[in-house]
Amino acid sequence: MSEPAAAEWVNPLRDERDRRLPRIAGPCALVIFGVTGDLARRKLMPAVYDLANRGLLPPGFALIGFARRDWVDEDFGRIVHDAVRANSRTPFREEVWQRLAEGIRFVQGSFDDEDAFAQLATTLAELDKIRGTGGNHAFYLSIPPDSFPVVCSQLSRSGLAGSEDGRWSRVVIEKPFGHDLASARALNAVVGEVFPEDSVFRIDHYLGKETVQNILAMRFANQLFDPLWNAHYVDHVQITMAEDIGLGGRAGYYDGIGAARDVIQNHLLQLLAFIAMEEPISFDPAELRAEKIKVLSATRLAEPLDETTARGQYVAGWQNGGEVVGLHEEQGFAPDSTTETFAAITCEINTRRWAGVPFYLRTGKRLGRRVTEIAIVFKRAPHLPFDDTMTTELGQNALVIRVQPDEGVTLRFGSKVPGSSMEVRDVNMDFSYGQAFTESSPEAYERLILDVLLGEPSLFPVDEEVELSWKILDPVLEHWAAHGVPEPYEAGTWGPPSADEMLRRSGREWRRP
Ligand code: BG6
Repeated sequence: MSEPAAAEWVNPLRDERDRRLPRIAGPCALVIFGVTGDLARRKLMPAVYDLANRGLLPPGFALIGFARRDWVDEDFGRIVHDAVRANSRTPFREEVWQRLAEGIRFVQGSFDDEDAFAQLATTLAELDKIRGTGGNHAFYLSIPPDSFPVVCSQLSRSGLAGSEDGRWSRVVIEKPFGHDLASARALNAVVGEVFPEDSVFRIDHYLGKETVQNILAMRFANQLFDPLWNAHYVDHVQITMAEDIGLGGRAGYYDGIGAARDVIQNHLLQLLAFIAMEEPISFDPAELRAEKIKVLSATRLAEPLDETTARGQYVAGWQNGGEVVGLHEEQGFAPDSTTETFAAITCEINTRRWAGVPFYLRTGKRLGRRVTEIAIVFKRAPHLPFDDTMTTELGQNALVIRVQPDEGVTLRFGSKVPGSSMEVRDVNMDFSYGQAFTESSPEAYERLILDVLLGEPSLFPVDEEVELSWKILDPVLEHWAAHGVPEPYEAGTWGPPSADEMLRRSGREWRRP
């Protein structure tokens, strides 16, 4: 018998879709809990509009706000409108707004009010009929974690948490996801009782940033970097997330939480995972997460913690030409608050690729300027065939991923200074998004909300990643709680002296971005 001709055989598993084309969400409703909060106004509502404006939301779409306020649909509509006008990325277009506004509803109630959840179920059922939202519902919990359990159980009780008959129900959870390993496990268990893991979308908005996703493209689409991406060539890695803003108005969330829980546990350890993980066998969500889990499992804090970590709290100083107050004078903070506003840690990764390479992570409020970057700092050349004076200005080679602002990548290396003598000095080779691409980058929340509606989970950490990150961080949180208080640093500087000391011990120093 002859073989069938190749042309006759069609592989049913082969997806012929051009994966560069944007995907449009199917019919669905998005319910936001916590609509009176800052995040909803600054990020979530504008992102929903931006998606609508880009044509990525379906005609059958509805946005529902749930809160205690004494509002009706029109009041909430106005709030969304004002948030969109103030904060959307794309231009305001009346016709897009009108279409979105037709699907906006408000349900009034508190989280422990069963009737309010019954009302929510009724509203969603109506919208399914009149807007054609198809029985698909995403619940965005932009609320404090101690309210997750009650909201999840209310959703379950009112029949809104199940995914049956081809309909889906997803829950989106904002950080902080717990305040240590034990509480994160407890929260995962509570959420897991109501929603299966593949319906849980934990937001880490850093993963929604273009420049963060580009780490994977840089590492795994090129041949250039991988041979150098290991302990043979890399001296150390610095991950910096510096902010110039203070904490005015955020005491309710931040006091008692601090910089390590707010930022290192999630954003910075996720960046570490992207930098340090092995190549996934595909970009299938499970494969990507498996590699992140492996590398986080191999990550520990370097010890002794007194020398390998630092924490600080800002005091009054000068910033951007103005005088600013210290944390203790910010409204809502206890005068003796020991919450750290700066945190730095040293991680080691016990794998063949990274053994012996310190990963330094730091973050802080009221620092010199707003910048997030990852610097891969390379070892010095083993031998320099120059007179010492020719290379006095030569530093270490570095690849710097500029996450924000001024997005791009810089490669720093030594080059001859033009002239009749041999003098070598550091120069930069730059890739800048603004110059290389005409498209502007979507906001992180646009990408992530769209992924939730599409059911695309790659950019959302799973329960195990969250727990592993707490496991890495818990020892230093316990150490700090038991020893001393944060060291003061003046606003507008780069953190407390102990942070500089932390690197100086090994003959290194922080970059001054
Ligand atoms: C949040 C933190 O996750 O990230 C905030 O809770 C921080 O404290 C914010 O200000 C920074 O985000 P971005 O995208 O401006 O770097």
